[in-house]
Amino acid sequence: MKPVKLKENIYWVGAIDWDVRNFHGYLTQKGTTYNAYLIVDKKIVLIDTVKNHLFGEMISRISEVVDPGKIEYVVSNHVEMDHSGSIPELMKIAPNAAVVSSPKGKAGLQAHYKKNWRFITVNTGDALNIGERNINFIHTPMVHWPDNMVSFIPEEKILFSNDAFGQHIASSERFDDEFPLDVLLEEASKYYANIVLPYGAQVQNIFGKLADLNIDIIAPSHGLIWRSKVLQVLEQYQKWSSSNIDEKAVIVYDTMWNSTEKIAYAVQAAFENKGITTKMMTLKNNHISDIMTHILTAKYICVGSPTLNNNMLPTVAGFLTYLKGLAPKNRVGLAFGSYGWSGQSIGQVEDVLKGCGFSLIEKISVQYVPEESQLEKITQKVEEAIH
Ligand code: FEO
Repeated sequence: MKPVKLKENIYWVGAIDWDVRNFHGYLTQKGTTYNAYLIVDKKIVLIDTVKNHLFGEMISRISEVVDPGKIEYVVSNHVEMDHSGSIPELMKIAPNAAVVSSPKGKAGLQAHYKKNWRFITVNTGDALNIGERNINFIHTPMVHWPDNMVSFIPEEKILFSNDAFGQHIASSERFDDEFPLDVLLEEASKYYANIVLPYGAQVQNIFGKLADLNIDIIAPSHGLIWRSKVLQVLEQYQKWSSSNIDEKAVIVYDTMWNSTEKIAYAVQAAFENKGITTKMMTLKNNHISDIMTHILTAKYICVGSPTLNNNMLPTVAGFLTYLKGLAPKNRVGLAFGSYGWSGQSIGQVEDVLKGCGFSLIEKISVQYVPEESQLEKITQKVEEAIH
């Protein structure tokens, strides 16, 4: 297991999780990495660790450079166990090391691992001198948990950004210029849509704090390291965290006997007639985390469900729960569906869209199987509603 050099005496020593396909509900069809970074200066520092089942892989990479027992600082930028999970084993090897974290990081690590390690807590603006280099800390609460922080080495212009700017990609390539950029940006957008989306205001706040840094390399805790496309990913985060969305419609639905599907296509025709890009996403064939990738930049979110036992379909309910949690802002919602005799599902879908804070296009419901003339009217009505 080889380390990968970022700059002189700074190495990636993480682990590649080729097999993981589910990350708290997020479909990680390309696997992921947990990125840990080793800095060899007068002090030897490890920034973050890896999921605990891959501890051996991380130690093997570290051991190619230094004796892991000589690590003096373990910087924990984030408590979540994909990054802190190997700290307990590491501390057995390097028991005199200090764990460097935010105050909330310390509380979170103690709650998770019940260990009385030596902690150094740091706040925004604090710096840790490690010899020829300094590590500066900036708190980034809610990107992804309240404890999060990022670490910056001004002498090297490297930002260790933890969850921010990550992508779930398992690969033997480590740098952005070694990997197809379109795939990389798509995975970065999926990551943002499923992990970071609720915290756009906090991301904007971080941009304020990063504005004065002259960043050469962004080294996140998942996926590829940004060294050639730093500006591109910063621009993308700027867009995703702002209210800057596209004239685009995502039509999400499930169907029992294809009537709701017919309505979905009539709705799609309205957007197409208006020259608005659409994405049809049946819940039968699309994972909710992939749907969110498209919703990230879409102004219109149209959701359809037939009525089953006085309710929307469970697939639609699951999607809406996920959507509501990720809380996209400034969207326009449309509920639609067919029904047999009671038809509650359409109002239920609309209630959730309203609860998300979306402005609404008048809902559409059709009893049993829609006629061609009804479908034409639906298309016309939606066209009128979107101007
Ligand atoms: Fe990659 Fe919030 O952990």
